[in-house]
Amino acid sequence: MLSLFASKFNTVKENFVSLFDKYFVSGLCKVVLFSGIVLYLASIFLFKDPNCSPSEFLESSNSIPTNPNPNPSPNSPISHFISSNDTNPTNLSHLVFGLLGSEKAWHYRKSYIESWWRPKITRGYLFLDEKPKWNLLPWSKNSPPYRISDDITKLVQETQHVAPIMARMVHGIMELFREEHEGVRWVVMGDDDSIFFVDNMVDVLAQYDHTQYYYFGGQSEYILSNFWYSFSQGFGGAGFILSYPLAKALAEDMDSCLRRYPFLRSADQITMACIVDLGVSFSPLKGLHQIDLHGDISGLLSSHPKIPLMSLHHFDAVEPIFPSMNRIQSTKQLMKAAKFDQSRMLQQTICYHKLSNWSFSISWGYSVHIYEKIMPRSYLQYPIETFEAWNNKPQNPPYYMFNTRSSAKDSCETPHVFFLRSIGETWNKNEIWATYSRSAVRRLPGCSIGGNHPANYVKRIQVYSPRTKRTRMDRCECCDVIHTTGSNKAKVKFRECFNKEKIA
Ligand SMILES: *[C@@H]1O[C@H](CO)[C@@H](O)[C@H](O)[C@H]1NC(C)=O
Ligand SMILES: *[C@@H]1O[C@H](CO)[C@@H](O)[C@H](O)[C@H]1NC(C)=O
Ligand SMILES: *[C@@H]1O[C@H](CO)[C@@H](O)[C@H](O)[C@H]1NC(C)=O
Repeated sequence: MLSLFASKFNTVKENFVSLFDKYFVSGLCKVVLFSGIVLYLASIFLFKDPNCSPSEFLESSNSIPTNPNPNPSPNSPISHFISSNDTNPTNLSHLVFGLLGSEKAWHYRKSYIESWWRPKITRGYLFLDEKPKWNLLPWSKNSPPYRISDDITKLVQETQHVAPIMARMVHGIMELFREEHEGVRWVVMGDDDSIFFVDNMVDVLAQYDHTQYYYFGGQSEYILSNFWYSFSQGFGGAGFILSYPLAKALAEDMDSCLRRYPFLRSADQITMACIVDLGVSFSPLKGLHQIDLHGDISGLLSSHPKIPLMSLHHFDAVEPIFPSMNRIQSTKQLMKAAKFDQSRMLQQTICYHKLSNWSFSISWGYSVHIYEKIMPRSYLQYPIETFEAWNNKPQNPPYYMFNTRSSAKDSCETPHVFFLRSIGETWNKNEIWATYSRSAVRRLPGCSIGGNHPANYVKRIQVYSPRTKRTRMDRCECCDVIHTTGSNKAKVKFRECFNKEKIA
């Protein structure tokens, strides 16, 4: 969330009265005044016990919950509605997205969001710092509807906030909640250069009770980012997710929150601080990716942990993820696969061609690696360090929140790399086929440890996977390689692993 806003925050307009001020402040006063009178009278008439003072009654009336959802307190500015009787499984209609962007950046970042946004199905808004210019109008039907962020200049000046833009971003959580919360179970905040895999988000969130307090997010891949900002925060670009009661509590506390932390420079830190003040701690989810990296992230994407992929951030900051395409084309290419099956997206599946001593590592919907020797899963699960650290990389590791493999050229360690070319359904619609083609000639001699069986002649790999989505995460799938030595094609078929099957 940090590097986002190229444009400066708007300057003060003294006479500006936001919708929020007008609507809520006057309403709030009436509600407080009225409920105060009612409670006071009640305390006089109902309580004869001299030990029970009116003030005690007032305090306790605010703190006794009557159901799993927090009680609507009489002075709450945001009306409370949640049907706790809705026991239907969580679906996309229960998620609301708040995307923080800027007018300047939207011109070129719009394609990232439109690649995953489903008009009239995904709920939410893009929050812009200023009105869109003429060449963004009429507003694209494929974009999320936009709102202009509240002018909070008065507040940030009053508190001398060190980072007004960051305050604006945090305030966006309240603005989103104010805009839309009916039937919402989860509030997802993200950046305008993030790609979300919303079906996977639904599947993951459906496992949690949305009436409880949850603060989910992604940590940075770069250890020092977590150290500098916080290991206990969700990095906003990857997207952080608040359950309904938490989003509501945070929205209602927003003014006070921004007043408590005017000295924090990062939106994610302020958000975390205010959430922790509400008694809720951060729970990292490994499918949310901040991508605090530069360069070629194909190594990372080719060894994704066994967790549903939920987001990828910083598409502007890394090289296009498909080497033959630009960023926008790359995004669309990845989403092409996601349309067929999000559940398997980037999931790493490994099998061997024993006759040639080759290891196949498939990152579903993205890449295939062939190694010329048998390598264990425990090793292949580590990404090849094709990427660079975000910044200020110290001389010695550790750099990343995971182990890496060296990207140095080596006959046995360097894979033959294939990227997704095309994808479709088989004629009987039982399976999905995906074709991966070689990205470049490897230009290395054969690996002698594996018995010297060079794979240079393999040009294309066709991977077949079941049409049904696979949400179980306890164990990976297995696969079989079908390849005749000398053929420039190889087939890989996915299947469930057998009972006690060893992938080795
Ligand atoms: C939930 O169900 C209970 C009992 O069936 C009912 O009394 C209550 O009004 C329902 N609440 C809502 C919000 O529908
Ligand atoms: C999502 O769940 C709601 C109930 O909360 C239901 O009314 C709606 O039909 C569901 N939508 C889909 C697409 O299944
Ligand atoms: C595969 O590799 C093993 C161990 O390096 C070796 O003993 C074996 O001969 C190789 N098999 C073939 C077919 O080259």
